[in-house]
Amino acid sequence: MYSSFGKLVFLALLQINLADNDYKINDKSFPDNFIFGAATAAYQIEGGWNEDGKGENIWDRFTHEYPQYILNEDTGDIACDSYHKYEEDVEKLTYLGVNHYRFSISWSRVLPNGFSDNINQKGIAYYKNLIAKLKANNIEPLVTLYHWDLPQTLQDYGGFHNDSFNQWFADYARVCFENFGKDIKYWITFNEPKYACTGYGTATFAPGVNMPGVGEYKCMHNLLKAHAAAYHVYQDEFKTDQNGKLAIANSISGCLPATNKTEDVEAANREMEFTLGWISNPLFYGDYPEIMKSRVAYRSELEGFTESRLPTFTEDEKAFIKGTSDYFAVNTYSTTFAAAASEPEIGAPSIASDCGVEVQYADDDHKFDGMTYLMEWVTEHYNKPAIIITENGLGLSSNSLEDEERIHFIKNSMSRFKDALDKGINVFGYTTWSLMDNFEWTQGYSKKFGLYHIDFNSPNRTRTAKASVEWYRNVIKTRCLLDKCES
Ligand code: NOJ
Repeated sequence: MYSSFGKLVFLALLQINLADNDYKINDKSFPDNFIFGAATAAYQIEGGWNEDGKGENIWDRFTHEYPQYILNEDTGDIACDSYHKYEEDVEKLTYLGVNHYRFSISWSRVLPNGFSDNINQKGIAYYKNLIAKLKANNIEPLVTLYHWDLPQTLQDYGGFHNDSFNQWFADYARVCFENFGKDIKYWITFNEPKYACTGYGTATFAPGVNMPGVGEYKCMHNLLKAHAAAYHVYQDEFKTDQNGKLAIANSISGCLPATNKTEDVEAANREMEFTLGWISNPLFYGDYPEIMKSRVAYRSELEGFTESRLPTFTEDEKAFIKGTSDYFAVNTYSTTFAAAASEPEIGAPSIASDCGVEVQYADDDHKFDGMTYLMEWVTEHYNKPAIIITENGLGLSSNSLEDEERIHFIKNSMSRFKDALDKGINVFGYTTWSLMDNFEWTQGYSKKFGLYHIDFNSPNRTRTAKASVEWYRNVIKTRCLLDKCES
């Protein structure tokens, strides 16, 4: 470990090196009601993949059957072993001083084959214990029902492509509301729908259904119906007693136009509609964005499809889906820039061709530029919802405990969200991804997002604080991103 003096010098040097532009870190305190948290997800941390009655899920199956698609052939079989070490996780969260912990429930741990007629009481007990320990330490659980780990049995029936999916999900949600709901104020039904559906458009991501340009749209259609079904179950059966709020966690990069030419401005908006509007428009207005409907229909026809690859909601479905978001959850890690592109050739269908925009990730000097803009976009397009950042953080390949790069990233991101708050935007919380290093999907354990380092070579999965732990702890304690805040 380093001495605190050494750390100060190191930090000071780094401040100079990382002073990438004239941007000044926000020097005002976060308000007292602003909440700070950390996040994880079941498959990425729990392990215990076949323990105590847990059923197989699509990531168990995928990592076991297609190891070639995962870096180093890693699996989540043991992961951070949080199935056994959750108490230690809560101790770390308590040390950090977070107000909330975002974690997900593993569907197949609670319902081994996905259906609600067979409940695994040991699975229920695991989450009850975790929630009780959090509450005992004054940490609010913020719970995701689905973070990509579909029970394999349901996948064998077609998964998200089965038109009964909404019913299966609503039944699962009901079991969770019944068992855990009295302690939960914030639910997230689906984490990052775009990526939850990625595996219906490629062989290289679970469940590996290779139907690009068709499979993802169908998946999303049923996902949105499932979200609405769970939302209504909650309103009809639980809201009065439990009074929680539900939303979807979106994955979005604020997309800025590459130049101020009209066509680039339009391109950036189109990118926002194809990534965020695809999910949020139905929740707020009952239907997909017009630009998506017209572009997918236009290209589908030229490709020889008899109907648009983007499915259509009935009027009843629109009414059922509209208004099913109580707050707005955002996972964001970057900024992108969009430029107009010439119409992609007609050939194999893909969402990228449907959108028809040149998109690039921002370079280091501009990677935070889209974050305040994103908050503004959401506010303007979705009637000023209460926004919480449900994920933000930095993945590094290094094992070093001196993660100043991560501190720099989180500080700059939080500062942009605080700037949004100062402009009157209703951002009420921030959650960093992740509490600890974990299984980063197809990247295995090579990409580390944790504030805590995990020794994946030790059977104990030892947790060790990185420098970012003290930094974030101090921010939470002082509610200030700098040594001192103005007000
Ligand atoms: C998105 C996902 O929700 C999470 O599972 C993933 O590990 C992080 N962001 C980092 O990529």
